[in-house]
Amino acid sequence: MSHEITINTDVTRGKINRNIYGHFSEHLGRCIYEGIWVGEDSPIPNTEGIRNDVVEALKNLNIPVLRWPGGCFADEYHWKDGVGPRSQRKSMINTHWGGVVENNHFGTHEFLRLCELLECEPYISGNVGSGTVQEMSEWVEYMTFDGVSPMADWRKENGREQPWKLKYFGVGNENWGCGGNMRPEYYADLYRQFQTYVRNYGDNTIYKIACGPNVDDYRWMEVVMREAHRFMDAISLHYYTVPREWSDKGAATGFPVQEWFQTLKKALYMDELITRHSAIMDQYDPDKRVGLIVDEWGTWYNVEPGTNPGFLYQQNTIRDALVAGLTLNIFHEHNDRVVMANIAQIVNVLQSVILTEGEKMLLTPTYHVFEMYKVHQDAERLDTHYSGGAYEMDGESIPHVSVSASRTVDGKINVSLCNLSHASKAEVSVALRGLKGSLSKVSGRQLTAGAPDAHNTFEAADNVKPAAFTDFEVEDQTLRAKLAPMSVTVLELSAG
Ligand code: AHR
Repeated sequence: MSHEITINTDVTRGKINRNIYGHFSEHLGRCIYEGIWVGEDSPIPNTEGIRNDVVEALKNLNIPVLRWPGGCFADEYHWKDGVGPRSQRKSMINTHWGGVVENNHFGTHEFLRLCELLECEPYISGNVGSGTVQEMSEWVEYMTFDGVSPMADWRKENGREQPWKLKYFGVGNENWGCGGNMRPEYYADLYRQFQTYVRNYGDNTIYKIACGPNVDDYRWMEVVMREAHRFMDAISLHYYTVPREWSDKGAATGFPVQEWFQTLKKALYMDELITRHSAIMDQYDPDKRVGLIVDEWGTWYNVEPGTNPGFLYQQNTIRDALVAGLTLNIFHEHNDRVVMANIAQIVNVLQSVILTEGEKMLLTPTYHVFEMYKVHQDAERLDTHYSGGAYEMDGESIPHVSVSASRTVDGKINVSLCNLSHASKAEVSVALRGLKGSLSKVSGRQLTAGAPDAHNTFEAADNVKPAAFTDFEVEDQTLRAKLAPMSVTVLELSAG
């Protein structure tokens, strides 16, 4: 079966916003505590309490933006409990996630320091569900006001003289559910009220993000856009890939091959969701001023046996790599509306790029996809078409290959290709129409594995990692490649 891909190298489709490669960190399980924050006195090497190994690995991904403190946690988080001397910070119960006691040792200063170390933009989610307008307003004043004011003075007392630059601020999280069980009409009004007091101080301009719908709740999108689009810069969307159903989601490893197929099929649903939500947004915002931010996405499985069910700790396999690759390709295709996405979550929770155990750390297959795909960040998307066979199972079918292409500022073309089939190679023919000259240089890397649930462990951390890809030939402006089953490949092409 042949797979024909045409890349119109002379037809560009706009920039792929680097923020699509964003991440999400919540006070949930071992994400913040252990995964990121170990404290200054830890034997694990750290910078002001933040683990060095994790920062170093994350820096290699060029992380553009990091969302914090939740998630559901955001709407029960009271930021004032998380500043000042750590020994005096008030504890709270993390009611959503395992009922554990949160000591508030990782708060605003620590998060913003983490973003400095990662050289990424912070994206803070404010509390609408159980917070007040004043509390939200004062948080922004605390972080960004450069002058004499109660909050700015308190920040200075707590050791930070200069305000931080803060761009991305979310007004609530999942307010249709854990963030207050609201109706969209009620949330739209609250959004209008709360955002009024999220002020711009000096030259710090906040980009305000409204809480958007859960999955296919098109009514939520309709009502919130209708009532509040004038007051927002972006609206969020949450969609998780669950192989089975919420009550029994399926295992992260040791799953039957049907679950491989169903997982990828469900991940592909992201395309329909974005298309339909964007159509609603278009009615109120035809100029596409308001961005769509998929600030929670990724796989969600049953937790690893023996781990706290409230900690959402799961292994990460080559199946997750495929979900990451095809989802990022979908985001690229919607770059006229999707301006940011944040995979859930960065360390030790859900579809993580990093897992830790004590002082040990491993990079997951999903990490490798983000590393291979980073060449697309801020690159110009190229018009790309695929026609090929379907990947079929039990009477259902999905595309065999997912593809996306972009050109960097220095003229290199990067093509990311996912072979979704668990069993068959994909022989792809990539025609680079409109190229000036012949293909002069081609190189590539491929991430693949011998089993659908292949993964990295603390004992075998390099079990799944990218390798040089050479199974291709070039003729003038066409490249023919044989993609291994269950693989993610990124090719770099130059013409001359
Ligand atoms: O990422 C885990 C949880 O999923 C988040 O806290 C919540 O926003 C969503 O339901």
